[in-house]
Amino acid sequence: VNVKQVYRTGFHFHLEKNWINDPNGPLYYKGFYHLFYQYNPEGAVWRNIVWGHSVSKDLINWKKLEPAIFPSKTFDKYGCWSGSATVLPGNKPIILYTGVVDENITEVQNYAVPADYSDPYLRKWIKPDNNPLIVADESMNTTAFRDPTTAWLGQDGRWKILVGGRRKHRGIVFLYRSRDFMNWVKAKHPLHSCANTGNWECPDFFPVSLHGTNGLDTSSLMEENKIKHVLKVSLDETRYDYYTLGTYFPQKDRYIPDKNMVDGLRGLRYDYGDFYASKSFFDPIKKRRIMWAWANESDTVCDDLRKGWAGIQTIPRTILIDPNGRQLLQWPVEELETLRREKVELREKKLKKGEHVEVKGITAAQADVEVTFSFHCLDKAEKYDSSWDEHDAQKLCSQKGSTVQGGVGPFGLLTLASHDLKEYTPVFFRIFKANSKHVVLMCSDESSSSLEEGLYKPSFAGFVDVDLTDKKLSLRSLIDHSVVESFGAGGKTCITSRVYPTLAIYENAHLHAFTNGTATIIIEKLDAWSMKSSRIMLICMHSTTA
Ligand code: FRU
Repeated sequence: VNVKQVYRTGFHFHLEKNWINDPNGPLYYKGFYHLFYQYNPEGAVWRNIVWGHSVSKDLINWKKLEPAIFPSKTFDKYGCWSGSATVLPGNKPIILYTGVVDENITEVQNYAVPADYSDPYLRKWIKPDNNPLIVADESMNTTAFRDPTTAWLGQDGRWKILVGGRRKHRGIVFLYRSRDFMNWVKAKHPLHSCANTGNWECPDFFPVSLHGTNGLDTSSLMEENKIKHVLKVSLDETRYDYYTLGTYFPQKDRYIPDKNMVDGLRGLRYDYGDFYASKSFFDPIKKRRIMWAWANESDTVCDDLRKGWAGIQTIPRTILIDPNGRQLLQWPVEELETLRREKVELREKKLKKGEHVEVKGITAAQADVEVTFSFHCLDKAEKYDSSWDEHDAQKLCSQKGSTVQGGVGPFGLLTLASHDLKEYTPVFFRIFKANSKHVVLMCSDESSSSLEEGLYKPSFAGFVDVDLTDKKLSLRSLIDHSVVESFGAGGKTCITSRVYPTLAIYENAHLHAFTNGTATIIIEKLDAWSMKSSRIMLICMHSTTA
């Protein structure tokens, strides 16, 4: 047995073999969810990029099909890079993707359509000869011009899309318009841009409803006071996904982030960990917006070659706006709960300073844990030092890890822990007292996750914008061998960690709840489940790949 296969995930999407990165063109069609992804059919490194393709009825169990789009024409000879799907009126899906045309990485935007609309698997895609649809003009950078979004239809009868890019160090989302989806004209003004943010990859732009819990179709343009728009970009430089909430003015095709929103590196993130190039779509069946992202490996290229595979997709998340209007809320799709098996519960369990309690009776290496912590008062909270960089939660977490005693916290979970605690990935909160308010830090600290050297093991962290008047904080962690995906305070702050324990594997992995602060913490309610593995099946058809 290849020992490295201990890092294979049980319920996170990944492939038996080879490299994957960005999720591409998610869509729903005739009973199936379709997920495409950047895929190297020939190895576990980024190269030879095609659109891999899998379908699912439930977003959990997948059938892998043949690649949908692969280099075959002059307009995509050097790569079929990221893009999006739009379902045109009459239930006609169409894909826009970036084609790389030469060795200089000149990028153009192409389209592909299903060869057979009666096939719910949409196995075969055609790239018509009027490609490319869009090429960069002289004013643009041809090597930073990629990742077209899902199109939305304006009341003016024109389709609009964004394409990511940059001018010098200014990140830009270019706007294009078309009446027929074939002839695209660049708008004079980009939809949005921001200085000193570098190349904007994989933009995503969609409305969210201010009322109720339904998601919205990308083309929904209800009255301005009923919706907000989200603009997400993936920053090449930091490898995180940032977003702003704002107002989209359809007449002028301009987007203005809300005040208090910050573009770029100091802005809000979908996730403060290993999470990049996300893409969302509207699920017309359950009326929700679902988002996917790529969680890259944090081991070495040699490790990946030995494993034979690299890259997973995060658990699809539904996206809603927080009722406070200041941020989004993300939560694993409800279908994930169908994988829950044995359950253990803790209720009203007190944790005094330095105590931890083991959660026994589940498969701790493959589990779903939901916990609500409470505390009597916040008097013991440590003082927040105003000289700390409020945009650098990660630095704070690296200094104030789970073993550094605090006042209220650090408290949380020790995931993927070896029996002697030589290895563990703590996911925890620490509450500080600032002048007039409390500051909540959430960490997923990889620094103690593995005894192996040469791994990338940051102390991922973000702040949690939460009201503590009810003296409670909740946490959900999806633990899956080499990934811990965590949702703080109902999905306000999310952190995904890729970790590679050497001791805390399979039945040698343990789960604890802990506190290391002077204040007593109560585990009000903890539910933990063993998780069944999902199925990823290979449908063998006339093979075009090895
Ligand atoms: C993001 C990205 C995209 C590009 C693709 C290539 O991870 O760099 O900008 O289209 O990956 O695989």
